[in-house]
Amino acid sequence: MHKIYIEELNNYIGQEIELSGWVTHKRSSGKIRFIVMRDGSGICQLVLVKNIIPEEVFNKYDELTQESSFKVYGLVKKEDRAPGGFEIEVKNLEIIHIAKDYPITPKEHGIEFLMDHRHLWLRSSRQHAILRVRHEIIQAIRNFFNNKGFILVDAPILTPAACEGTTTLFETEYFDLGKAYLTQSGQLYAEAAAMAFGKVYTFGPTFRAEKSKTRRHLTEFWMVEPEVAFADLNDDMDLAEEFVEYIVQTVIKNRRKELEFLERDISKLEKVKRPFPRIHYEEAIEILKRNGINFEWGNDFGGTDETVISEQFEKPVMIHHYPAQVKAFYMKRDPNDERYALAVDMLAPEGYGEIIGGSQREDDYEILLKRIEEHNLPREAFEWYLDLRRYGSVPHSGFGLGIERTVAWICKLEHVRETIPFPRMIYRNTP
Ligand code: 4AD
Ligand code: MG
Repeated sequence: MHKIYIEELNNYIGQEIELSGWVTHKRSSGKIRFIVMRDGSGICQLVLVKNIIPEEVFNKYDELTQESSFKVYGLVKKEDRAPGGFEIEVKNLEIIHIAKDYPITPKEHGIEFLMDHRHLWLRSSRQHAILRVRHEIIQAIRNFFNNKGFILVDAPILTPAACEGTTTLFETEYFDLGKAYLTQSGQLYAEAAAMAFGKVYTFGPTFRAEKSKTRRHLTEFWMVEPEVAFADLNDDMDLAEEFVEYIVQTVIKNRRKELEFLERDISKLEKVKRPFPRIHYEEAIEILKRNGINFEWGNDFGGTDETVISEQFEKPVMIHHYPAQVKAFYMKRDPNDERYALAVDMLAPEGYGEIIGGSQREDDYEILLKRIEEHNLPREAFEWYLDLRRYGSVPHSGFGLGIERTVAWICKLEHVRETIPFPRMIYRNTP
């Protein structure tokens, strides 16, 4: 007997196989009983026919409830009308565990109820589709950098200082060494690694004690951060657009079924091809003005501003040259106009806002030291980082892409909470 997964049924038509899984739903009609099962790889219809199989096997149908687990043995048949396109003519069935009163029923549930039951909600087809797209995005990211010769370096999670501003730090006691902070970004470590390996990326969880209760913010999210030695802001933008095009086109190619299930308009994603528009901060302000938004020079764009700007374009748009005053301490200033940082944000289309933040880094020792002091950052904690400007400093650039916002955009979801298996937000840290 072949022990297989539902996704492999196509290779076993006319053969007897064994499947293991859970009951999705059941229905009966005369002498026939149908069980729709799932095994994680897909869904499949089982058919039990009275008088053809032993009565005791046929009667197991009555015992099985939604989400009960079992093994089934039977003959694979092609059946276009069945969900998934195959049907199993059941020969034998073995119950493993009976689920009592599964809380998520086919009726409508509120979002808070579903979030409280996230550990079970993951079994539903919609969550399946979303998390498979997430998986594909992560796989595409790894392949993209691997194919380009980037080395993966893992940055630490417990860090001695802030990378992205001191207002969103999670802190913890660290033995006799005082405080440690959950990392906000692996970037500073990626910079050290870029000086060792040339082109690298970090990929891991990052943390922000964000007080924002928006549909774009999590307190724990995954970020991928490439960093390249001898690269300037333009090289950084070239890499960012090639990267995002590759991710989107790979998902369309490999996960069309999931996108269709989510009723995603794929034609919108097909347009995500290079080149992406690149606009100066000043041009972005012009767009806001044309749309009746009064925006004061020197501010960062808020969620609504980003939505208005990104809605002007069918592709992701890159905004560069932000005012240095709203950006991080490590960003290099434009040598032609010190008011601007050599920074870039990429905004996703369809109102999804910022998915990438990046920049060319300050590579001059004296200037960087001055910035660390201006930002009131503890110099001792940055001595190692200053070393990178003491020993063979070079122009270098990188960016960070947020995985959850990318999943939300590609799947066209209302909120980032469904893009990660167990979301952490200001008002939720369970299950
Ligand atoms: O723009 P950010 O803060 O940039 C950095 O952390 C840089 N150190 C990256 C670098 O240059 N290596 O964050 C980068 C991206 C954002 O564009 C967004 O997609 C995501 O991380 N992000 C969040 N995603 C979900 N919830 C939050 N609270 C997020 N904060 C940032
Ligand atoms: Mg940013």
